[in-house]
Amino acid sequence: MISIKKSISAQIAEIMKKINADAQIDGDAVCAMLEYPPDEKMGDLALPCFKLSKVLRMAPVKIAATIAESFSADCVARAEAVNGYFNIYLDGAYLAKSVVSGVREKGERYGAPEDMGKGKTVVLDYSSPNVAKPFHIGHLGTTVIGHSLKRLHEFAGYKCVGINYLGDWGTQFGKLIVAYHKWGNAETVENGGVDALVELYVKINNAIADDPALADEARAEFRKLEDGDEENIKLWKWFVEISLAEYQKTYKQLGIEFDSYKGESFYTDKMPAQVQKLRDMGLLKIDDGASIVDLEPYGMTPCLILKRDGSTLYPTRDIAAAVYRKETYDFDKMIYVTSAGQSLHFAQWFKVVELMGYEWFDKLVHVPYGTVSINGAKLATRTGNVLLLRDLFAESIAKVEAIMQEKNPDLPDRDKVSEAVGVGAIVFYYLSNNRIRDINFMMEDALSFEGNTGPYVQYTYARTCSVLAKSPDYDKNAEFVITSADETSLLKTLSRFEEVVREAIAAYEPSIVTRYILDVAGAYNRFYHNCSILGAENEAVKNTRLALTEAANTVLGNAFGLICLAKTEKI
Ligand code: ARG
Repeated sequence: MISIKKSISAQIAEIMKKINADAQIDGDAVCAMLEYPPDEKMGDLALPCFKLSKVLRMAPVKIAATIAESFSADCVARAEAVNGYFNIYLDGAYLAKSVVSGVREKGERYGAPEDMGKGKTVVLDYSSPNVAKPFHIGHLGTTVIGHSLKRLHEFAGYKCVGINYLGDWGTQFGKLIVAYHKWGNAETVENGGVDALVELYVKINNAIADDPALADEARAEFRKLEDGDEENIKLWKWFVEISLAEYQKTYKQLGIEFDSYKGESFYTDKMPAQVQKLRDMGLLKIDDGASIVDLEPYGMTPCLILKRDGSTLYPTRDIAAAVYRKETYDFDKMIYVTSAGQSLHFAQWFKVVELMGYEWFDKLVHVPYGTVSINGAKLATRTGNVLLLRDLFAESIAKVEAIMQEKNPDLPDRDKVSEAVGVGAIVFYYLSNNRIRDINFMMEDALSFEGNTGPYVQYTYARTCSVLAKSPDYDKNAEFVITSADETSLLKTLSRFEEVVREAIAAYEPSIVTRYILDVAGAYNRFYHNCSILGAENEAVKNTRLALTEAANTVLGNAFGLICLAKTEKI
């Protein structure tokens, strides 16, 4: 659609020059003003002429009429002036040619905004669970939004580095070591994996609530770890390994791989240089024994750099990590995906980086998201009363498996398909929401095969596959013959893909892609129900409809890839 919009806009700009040569409205400006009318009866594209009235010194109604008088283009079937709007109706056969040839030429790259990321590098920091604490549904957001943003940027030609900044350091390890000595042993942890660790962690937190002296013990163990105590280092490495192996199972289900797992511990020896720099620049203030950067002039509470006992904090580590990553990857943008609860933390240390004179401060982006509750219940992390991501997926997969057994008992590879649909249902449901909105997760809704769900769009994808499988050798060189508004409507939707991708990247918003997938699925299904494909009235119409199906198949598949949704050829 971008190329069609551009050629239409260029011609309109020429006409405007004739109305008023001094107005200086170029094709790009017109292009930005073109709208998709909410109702197809008002055209496929429309130019509202109201804002132009002042620069062109002409009434909007007259502007629209003047454009309509001399406008004509191959891609346009009809155009008319209505109440100050210039409404354009596209030519179906022209659209078909442009969409289908684009899809055939570009294939898996159809819809990619090629020029956007060329030669640029983006670092994405996401998922980043805290080792030995449960990998729970609260991490779903950072994991799938983060990975979606990575896919979107890759699609747009950026070189991407996905980093899992594991929470692999901190006092929780002191607690865990104490708990392990008190209640654990090698065998139970080896067999129980991360569950055994979480159990120990929950147990020690409850014990600390009753006996605060245990907290001192935990701090002492952590101090030993920091000082390089061999035994504690060994335990720590082991705990991290066990946890990572577990997370990787979930990542595999989602089709996620990271380029780096450099977690918090990696930055321990990189912090002193940054603390020294802050000190040398006179940015550090002592406040009640702690070292802080005062951010009052910027309307924020202080950024904490060192605790009273000299130990470092979360922001200190993030600053050191950002400096290291800039040196290592020379990024053009670095994106952090976390819950909105951390927004102040990021605003604070981004400001500190700016004050430190790092000129790349404005390349740091925080992408926050809202909270998740399940069937109305809020989450609690410390008490162990949480829903693990792993269990959520398992439940969803089991439910899908049961539905499949009933609906399609002969389906080959049923467990594979159930996994793709079960995981996909959760991902799609989650990413249907505007990311900043809090979400209440309703399992029943997510799994429905009707309505705006993952199973529904995956089913639609499978439908396109089965239509194509029935007619693999159709004539791809035939002329396009468009006979129904449902065909044109589908084509228009398909042709918007690249614009949607651009928008999603600009807003860091995967839900824009999710909503678009629903538009495509809806348009395809309307077309499928109203237009007979294999039984079309003649060969030309049949070939056109198969070509449209092929285009829908490619667009859906490409878009699925952008939101970590598996392509299912059969359901
Ligand atoms: N581990 C943190 C948590 O679970 C998230 C880390 C986000 N990334 C960062 N660079 N601070 O809350």
